Amino acid sequence: MLILYINIDDLINLLLICGEDTLNLSRVKKTMKRQVLQLNPILIPEVNARIASAYTVHKFFEVSDQEAWLNANAAHIEAVITGGHTGISDAMLERLPALKVVAINGVGTDAVNLNYCRARALPVTATLGALTEDVADLAMGLLIAASRNLCSVDRFVRDGQWPLFPQPSALPLARRFSGMRLGIVGMGRVGRAVAHRALAFGCPISYTDLHPMGDVAHRFVPHLLDLAQDSDALVLCAAADQAEGIVNAAVLDALGPRGFLVNVARGRLVNEADLTAAVTQGRIAGAGLDVFVDEPNVSLALRQSDKVTLQAHRASATWETRTAMAEMVLASLEQAFAGQRPAMSLTT
Ligand code: 8YV
Repeated sequence: MLILYINIDDLINLLLICGEDTLNLSRVKKTMKRQVLQLNPILIPEVNARIASAYTVHKFFEVSDQEAWLNANAAHIEAVITGGHTGISDAMLERLPALKVVAINGVGTDAVNLNYCRARALPVTATLGALTEDVADLAMGLLIAASRNLCSVDRFVRDGQWPLFPQPSALPLARRFSGMRLGIVGMGRVGRAVAHRALAFGCPISYTDLHPMGDVAHRFVPHLLDLAQDSDALVLCAAADQAEGIVNAAVLDALGPRGFLVNVARGRLVNEADLTAAVTQGRIAGAGLDVFVDEPNVSLALRQSDKVTLQAHRASATWETRTAMAEMVLASLEQAFAGQRPAMSLTT
């Protein structure tokens, strides 16, 4: 016996082709919702409700047998929602022939092959500008937390250590943040927002990027090594598309034993083994890290070091920013489905 599995969408199309429209199938087809594949969650319930009422949303991260699910459903997916860090593989894109848009709920594009999408005339959108202020705020928080030992002293008090070691010498002196020479790596939206904030702390600013920015007055330093040499703190705000491992042992040694590293961009900008060695050997003073090479895994050495302040890729994780980002994702889907070029498209 031959058993045929057929999707409802295909069935309706088949009946329409056969001229079988006694059930008014063309109307049914028009009211069928478009299918959206969501690769990681949006955390704003109100926007989720709107997306779910407009589309049939498939939460891939909740699917147990993803391979079987793709075999059955991939052909009908018309939009993908993903995160900056998650992106989407070429192999997965290949399996989605009906795709009209990839909406990144973030600004990082390093996990999506933009050239492939360009060749396919597929819009890839990002939430440009929505998370700038929050990411810059967290960079400032990490700079101050790392230089003033905020988290290790918090643990000292919280663990009941203070009464046991009441002498002021029980805790090491910290470093003043105000006036630190900041070296910003990547003078895009976030880099500029960090510079803007740091000026209020009296910090001299220098930066490096692929080229000097005509509209930025801060000192441009072409080589990262020289920037590290001239800085008390390096702040990584660069896109990671083509910059893997740029912060290595040589850069960390140029930053030196009084220098701090803050990363709010991507873990893979840093050679994490070199960073771990530099921190544990006292070759740099400390670090504030929101992002890691192999999230959510962070090495024991980093987790055990009092010189490192850790976050869990949280720079954009506020109600305000995540709401603005989710709204942009929804708008990108609406524009793509209306046959327009999405305003936030980077590829079309
Ligand atoms: C996003 C990120 O918040 O913007 C990016 O590229 O990595 C994150 O900060 C994340 O994509 C949320 O989904």
